[in-house]
Amino acid sequence: MNTKIEIIKDLTSDDKYLKEAAEIIKEGGLVAFPTETVYGLGANALDENAVKNIFVAKGRPQDNPLIVHICDFNLDNIVEEVPEVAKKLMDKFWPGPMTLILKKKDVIPEITSANLKTIGVRMPSSYIAKKLIEYSGVPIAAPSANISGRPSPTDVERCVEDLEGRVDYILGGEKSNVGVESTIIDCTVNPPCVLRPGGITLEMLREIDSSIYIDSAIMDKPKEGLKPKAPGMKYRHYAPKAKVKIIEGENKKTIEKINEMVLNYIEQGKVVGIMATDESMESYSNKAKVLSVGKRKDLSTVTKNLFEVLRAFDDIKVDVILCESFEEKGLGVALMNRLKKAAGFDIIKL
Ligand code: TXA
Ligand code: MG
Repeated sequence: MNTKIEIIKDLTSDDKYLKEAAEIIKEGGLVAFPTETVYGLGANALDENAVKNIFVAKGRPQDNPLIVHICDFNLDNIVEEVPEVAKKLMDKFWPGPMTLILKKKDVIPEITSANLKTIGVRMPSSYIAKKLIEYSGVPIAAPSANISGRPSPTDVERCVEDLEGRVDYILGGEKSNVGVESTIIDCTVNPPCVLRPGGITLEMLREIDSSIYIDSAIMDKPKEGLKPKAPGMKYRHYAPKAKVKIIEGENKKTIEKINEMVLNYIEQGKVVGIMATDESMESYSNKAKVLSVGKRKDLSTVTKNLFEVLRAFDDIKVDVILCESFEEKGLGVALMNRLKKAAGFDIIKL
């Protein structure tokens, strides 16, 4: 398949690309596009065939439902009801990095919701995403624009790397600012439950409704036979080709341990990467390839760079990536959720 790639640099003169991409969506094609969380791979959520092609392009298991992206606060045409708490959350956090699980209407084909009676709905804040939905005139089903299992792309180059030749159109634009996928909240249960942590933190959600809680299963290794509430959470995810290990402990001890591990790996002839922070960069052995993921004192810089840094380690062909750990508080919850999954829960506790 020939993939058309266009980058939006000027919102006025490049509007034609948005219209062109919207035409592709209307005709049942696939368009990758930027959002503030990660890049998405979109198709008309109401078109069964178009949605089927998303699963094919990504190599995504069919039991993993998609999020439907909208640009209008009126959800009556796609969901059965909007509970009070969902209305309050929408008012506060939309447009933005938050997905609400609601009871779906029959117009949403089963393939989009993977046979569930519910659907995830999100209104992105990215200008390009919003315009694409508006010009298409339909809700857009969009998973992250990566090959299934790989770290989600946060810029157009990574999108092209995974999807060129597999989709009709790649619309480039700004780098994703949040860097991890949206916070998913199940609003069909009471109290509402966070199924995937993201840019909107539990602390922020609790200012709207103090009963909201995080599903306890999501921060731990998935248990054999236990069905996760967000089907996607059971798959190996966000993983670079290299093996990822997390070292968890007090900062100074972590640095010592990582430097000791580097020597061992080098003896075995392995190329070692270290995922450090701006604060710790200088403390590591120059025998390893050290990349900073951001500032420990500002975790938004870390979530923003996380997936890109994991992919950058693959580019420099390391065999193993040793990662510092972060406190599971605020944005640290989403960050550690992705990092633990990337590591397949391989964590060394000091
Ligand atoms: O930030 C985001 O949400 C990005 C951008 C592109 O908007 N999209 C995204 O989609 O992360 P995806 O497909 O990579 O992840 C969707 C997650 C999966 O874990 C899926 O299982 C869960 O949402 N999900 C979707 N519909 C659901 C439902 N009805 N009930 C429970 N979980 C659902
Ligand atoms: Mg994904």
